[in-house]
Amino acid sequence: VIVHGHGTDEASMTALLHAMLGDRITNVGMAVEVRAAGGRDRPDLDKDGHRMRTPLHTDGFALADGAPDVLALGCERAARDGGGASFMVDADAVHRAIDEEFAAFLVDTDIDQTEPGKLPMVGPIGLRREGASIAWRCSYYLRPRDTDPDRHATHQRIDDWLWLLEDLAAGATRFHLTDGDVLVSDNTRTFHGRDPYVDTDRLLWRLWCWTDAAPVPLTAYRGSDTSLIRTK
Ligand SMILES: [Fe+2]
Repeated sequence: VIVHGHGTDEASMTALLHAMLGDRITNVGMAVEVRAAGGRDRPDLDKDGHRMRTPLHTDGFALADGAPDVLALGCERAARDGGGASFMVDADAVHRAIDEEFAAFLVDTDIDQTEPGKLPMVGPIGLRREGASIAWRCSYYLRPRDTDPDRHATHQRIDDWLWLLEDLAAGATRFHLTDGDVLVSDNTRTFHGRDPYVDTDRLLWRLWCWTDAAPVPLTAYRGSDTSLIRTK
C-alpha cells in the first residue's frame, strides 16, 4: 500500500502503522534515515551505493528469523533526477509460477543465509508458518550449509534462484515514491529493490514493525536497520 500526502516523520509513520494494524503490532523500531546503500547498515557501500541498483531483498535478513514482517518507507524527498525508482515482487506469486521441484527446494532446503558478522541464519528461503502464509526471506548471502548432504546441487539451485531474482528485478514494474508517500509492505511476502540515482539529497525514512504474524513476534529489537547487531 502507498499512502500519499502523509507525514514521513517517526510519529506520523508509527501512527499510520497503528491505524492499519492495530493491536496486531508487537513492536515498532525507531525510524532510521535511508540514504544511498541503506543508511547505517552498509557504510562501506554508502559512498557510491546510490549509483548501483539495490537488488531484490527483504529487510532485516541479518536478524535471521527475528526479521520484521512489516516495512514502512516514507519518502521525505524523492530524487530530483528521476532515478531511484522502486520495484517489488510478490514472492508467493513467484513460488506458484516456478516448477514443482524448484518450488519445493525453496521451502524444504536449509540454506546458510548468514550475513558476515551478523546473526547466524540457517533455514529455508521460504519458512512455513502455522496458520499463515510462507515467510519469505531474501538475503544477499546464500550458500549451502556446512552439513548439506549435496552441496553441489544446492549450489546450483542457489545460482538458479539468484539468476531468477536478477531477471525479476530487471523486468519488474517500476514506481516512484514521491514526497509525502509512505509505502507499507508485507516484508514476509514481498521482495523490494530500487534503481540507481544521482541526487544524493534523496531522503527516505524506514520503520520496521513486527506483528503477531512475524516468525518471532516478540522481538525487542529497537532499530529499523541492522547496525545495532554485533556478533563479533
Ligand atoms: Fe530494503
